[in-house]
Amino acid sequence: MENQRKTALITGGTSGIGKELAKLFAKDNYNLIIVARDQAELDSTKNELQKFGITVKTIAKDLSDMEQAKTLCSDVTEKVDVLVNDAGQGVYGLFKDNELEKELGIIHLNICATVILTKHFVQQMAERGEGKILNLGSVAGKLPGPWQAVYHATKAFVLSFTTAIREELKDSGITFTALMPGATATDFFNKAGMQDSQIAQNKEALSDPEDVAKEGYEALMAGKDRVIAGWKNSLEVHAANLMPDSAVAHTMYEQQKPVNQQ
Ligand SMILES: NC(=O)c1ccc[n+]([C@@H]2O[C@H](COP(=O)([O-])OP(=O)(O)OC[C@H]3O[C@@H](n4cnc5c(N)ncnc54)[C@H](OP(=O)(O)O)[C@@H]3O)[C@@H](O)[C@H]2O)c1
Repeated sequence: MENQRKTALITGGTSGIGKELAKLFAKDNYNLIIVARDQAELDSTKNELQKFGITVKTIAKDLSDMEQAKTLCSDVTEKVDVLVNDAGQGVYGLFKDNELEKELGIIHLNICATVILTKHFVQQMAERGEGKILNLGSVAGKLPGPWQAVYHATKAFVLSFTTAIREELKDSGITFTALMPGATATDFFNKAGMQDSQIAQNKEALSDPEDVAKEGYEALMAGKDRVIAGWKNSLEVHAANLMPDSAVAHTMYEQQKPVNQQ
């Protein structure tokens, strides 16, 4: 049984959407490799996931550091059947005021680590003629996002990149899926310094990470190109697609303002 199990590598598998995805893989009998920065969180998540009777390996890396992202590739000697690029962060505030290093770190994590890991594992998957990759995009990738200008742009990259390589590798046996959640109740807003934003304050409007992960998992397993989690988010994206980007940016500027600037 152990030998027949497939392995999924999930970055960001200790919290939020990534952790819910990890549970779905565990329930389906996948062995897991989970990656995040905090070893204590990795250990407690490993204990939780092992209850499903699978093997869980933890690797602590800061994926905003490109050397650590590259070392992760060489640290993984197992055959990876599914790669989930989930680890990602945002940064809230006006671009002119935000700290440059923080924004560069977000670009390294959301974009460059995704490229590094995808390149490494896609080459192995292509040799075998099979594999699945799930990249965490966002509805943000379809909407220019004042107050989160860099974050939204990173997610536009993820979406474009995933769609393009899916086409390049359409006959390879590898599938590429982009999961596009809307605002979801996770630690994301805390890490992004967004607690005062309208979006984080409107708790009733936030999606449940368990529901988001389920939609992503089903789309991945079905080999779909992308899925927008939640019908309201889907409606928002489709409505925005009918408007000029400048009008979308204006609406987002008003919507994403800190509550004390209303
Ligand atoms: N929540 C939302 O509203 C939302 C909406 C659309 C898309 N998304 C996307 O969904 C993905 C998951 O976010 P989430 O909402 O589930 O957030 P979360 O609860 O904060 O989880 C983020 C995960 O990534 C790990 N991580 C963060 N920075 C890392 C780094 N530098 N190196 C390695 N691991 C790192 C975290 O662990 P450590 O902190 O221990 O490193 C954690 O396991 C992200 O790509 C995010 O952009 C989120």
